[in-house]
Amino acid sequence: MIDQLSARRDVSRPPPANPVRPPIGRSRSLRLPILLVSLMLVIAALFATGLVLVVKARGGESAEVAGSSPVASEPAAPGRKTLRELTPPGMRIGSAVDGRGLSLDPAYSTLLGTEFNAVTTENAMKWRNLEPLPGVYAWPGADQLVEFAERHGQQVYGHTLVWHSDMPKWVSPEWPAERIRTELRDHVTEVVSRYRGRVWAWDVVNEVLDEDGSLRETLWLRKLGPGYIADAFRWAHAADPGARLFINDYGIERRTRKADALLTLVRDLRRDGVPVDGVGFQSHLAWDEPPRDLSRNLRRFAELGVAVAITELDVRVELPATPEKLKRQAAVYRQVLSSCLAVPACVSFTVWGFTDSRSWIPGYHRGYGAACLFDADLSPKPAYLALVDELSRHAGTTRAGPNPD
Ligand code: XIL
Repeated sequence: MIDQLSARRDVSRPPPANPVRPPIGRSRSLRLPILLVSLMLVIAALFATGLVLVVKARGGESAEVAGSSPVASEPAAPGRKTLRELTPPGMRIGSAVDGRGLSLDPAYSTLLGTEFNAVTTENAMKWRNLEPLPGVYAWPGADQLVEFAERHGQQVYGHTLVWHSDMPKWVSPEWPAERIRTELRDHVTEVVSRYRGRVWAWDVVNEVLDEDGSLRETLWLRKLGPGYIADAFRWAHAADPGARLFINDYGIERRTRKADALLTLVRDLRRDGVPVDGVGFQSHLAWDEPPRDLSRNLRRFAELGVAVAITELDVRVELPATPEKLKRQAAVYRQVLSSCLAVPACVSFTVWGFTDSRSWIPGYHRGYGAACLFDADLSPKPAYLALVDELSRHAGTTRAGPNPD
C-alpha cells in the first residue's frame, strides 16, 4: 500500500531531463525532421492537456488565454446585469466547463467568468481523465479550471469521484474485491485531498440507481456490495471535512420510482451517520417535457436536512430549432430556476454547458441540439433572457426557510 502510494506520480511536474543524447555522428539531414516531429508532439500534448497558455486573439493581437483573463465584471449587454449579479446570496449559479473552450477560446472564457459564480468540470475530474494509468495523475485540466475559478471569484463543484462510466481500462473487473476497494479508496482520497479547501462540493457518487429504483449493477456494486456508497462518502469526508458531499442522479426531477428510491437511500445513509450533505438533480430535460412537480420534489428531499442542487441542467430541442421551440425551452429553464429559488435548501443551479457550440447533446441524443442558454455564436437565447427575468423578479424577496449551506 505504502509502495503503491509512493509510486503515485504527478504528470503535471516536468519529467526529469532526458540524459540520453543523440549520437554525435547523427547526420544534419536527419536532425531537422526529428526536431519538427518533436515540436509537433509537444504542441499536440499541450493542446490535449489544455495547457496552451497563449493564443492569438481574433483581432490579431496576442492575448492571454482565456484561463488567465482578468475578472470580467462588465454586464453581458449595456445596462443588463449578469446572471451572477442577479443571483441571490447563498445560491450559486454555475456552468459545466469544456476544457478546450477554456484553453482555446477567449470569448468562451470571458462569458464564463462574467455570467457564473460557480463552475463544474464537465470531464476533467472524471477518473478516466484524472488517473489514466494506475497511480499516474493528469492534473493540468482540473488544476486549470480550479485556478480559473479562483481568479474569477467562482466556486468549484467537483464532478465526479465514483461513477460506473468513464472509467480507465486498467481498473479490471477480474481483480479481487480487496484490490478494487483499495483502488477506489486511494482514488477518492488522492483527488479530494489535492483540492482540499478549494472545491466547495463533490459529486461523490453519480448515478448509483437504476430506473426501477434498485441499485445499479456496476463493478462497484458487484465487487463491494451496497456499502461502497457509504465508504466513498466517508473517505471523501476524511480527505476534506469542509467539502459538501453530494449524491447525484438523473431522472429524479419528477416523483419517479427512482426519485422515491433515492429519497429512501439518502434517509438511510444519514440515519447511519454517513456524511451525505446534498442531492444533485442532473436535470437533462427536453423542451416539451417540463418537470411539473420539481419544487415539491426538491422540498421533500430538503426535509431530510440535506441541500439540493440542480447540477447539470440542459433542455434539448428536437432539431431544427424553431422560435416556438426555443420559447418553450425558455419556459422549461425558467421553471427549473423558479423551483430552485422557491426552495431555500436549493443552494446551486448549474447548467451543463452554456453554449450550443460545446454541448454534449448532439453527440448523445440523435436529432436533438440547441440545448443551452447561448447559441453557437455566444448570443443569448430566449432561455438566457428567461433566467435573467426570473432572477430579476425574485430580487428583493427572501428565501425563507432552512438553508443547510
Ligand atoms: C458527459 C459530458 O458532457 C460529455 O462530454 C462526455 O463525453 C460524457 O459525459 N451525466 C453526467 C455527466 O453525470 O458526467 C455527463 O457528461 C452527462 C450525463
